[in-house]
Amino acid sequence: MPRPRILVTRRWPAAVEAVLAERFEVTLNRDDIPLGENELRQALSDYDAVLPTVSDKLPAAVFAGDIRTKMLGNFGVGFNHIDIASAKAKDITVTNTPGVLTDCTADIAMLLLLSVARRGGEGERQVRAGEWKGWCPTHMIGTKVTGKTVGVIGFGRIGRAFAQRCHFGFGMDIVFYNRSQVDPAEAARYGARQLSTVEDVLAVSDFVSLHCPGGAENRYLMNAARFAAMKPGAFLINTARGDVVDEAALIAALANGTISGVGFDVYEREPQVPEALVRMENVVLLPHLGSATEETRTAMGMKVVENVTAFFEGREVPDRVA
Ligand code: DGY
Repeated sequence: MPRPRILVTRRWPAAVEAVLAERFEVTLNRDDIPLGENELRQALSDYDAVLPTVSDKLPAAVFAGDIRTKMLGNFGVGFNHIDIASAKAKDITVTNTPGVLTDCTADIAMLLLLSVARRGGEGERQVRAGEWKGWCPTHMIGTKVTGKTVGVIGFGRIGRAFAQRCHFGFGMDIVFYNRSQVDPAEAARYGARQLSTVEDVLAVSDFVSLHCPGGAENRYLMNAARFAAMKPGAFLINTARGDVVDEAALIAALANGTISGVGFDVYEREPQVPEALVRMENVVLLPHLGSATEETRTAMGMKVVENVTAFFEGREVPDRVA
């Protein structure tokens, strides 16, 4: 029986590519050049499975016409870059990689919170530019983190891991908004309290951190009205998805002082980052590094291997999203 033909759309950790090559007839993207929409459409008609990631856009148009692909094994937990309704309509199984990137993503959110509050990015730029004039009592004064209130939007795995760091590491008070009700006893494990609306959370939080999925249901969850509803002097952290924030409204809110600063790892039109943000000092900008550790990226790849292997062995896939 011929081995399933599989396309890996980007370079993956070498150990994972090696396992895939042992098990399947694999095409690797050795040059790591992202595929365009036409190439992805072609891939769906040529391969039994395609293994995409967040940099691949798979809108409805990619699923038009005859399709050979039966499985999309996404490298990543977020899947808002895939039109799930179209995948379902073509009877394509879609999987993701939950769980293994929880800690590293929560760590990056913490890094961003600390960096923006304590002006880490600005300070580093000043030292590197040779502009530091020495210690003085009024130099680069930031905002204290310990003991403040943090509002978590989306209390899933990553939101909880972030809350744990904030509460037990920095003595912070945690409030959160989550679409479904979280058992108060479970919330208490993180020193957290659920509030009824996003606005309730924004009104009391010194820091707001986004941990909800991207896609239609949360598009522009943070918009001009919501920035205006934030506590004066508050900061926003985004390690979730770029489309959760209206970037134009964000730039206006930063420019007119409605909010004090932001720490961002994700953007509306990656890899483009608005020039206005790049020019502001009170923003910390990372290039989507949430899961970027050796351990986590390998674990993500191995999760895809488990899913794709289960699929072609006729077993239920462990991480089905469609
Ligand atoms: C994910 O898994 O969705 C991340 O954003 C990619 O690292």
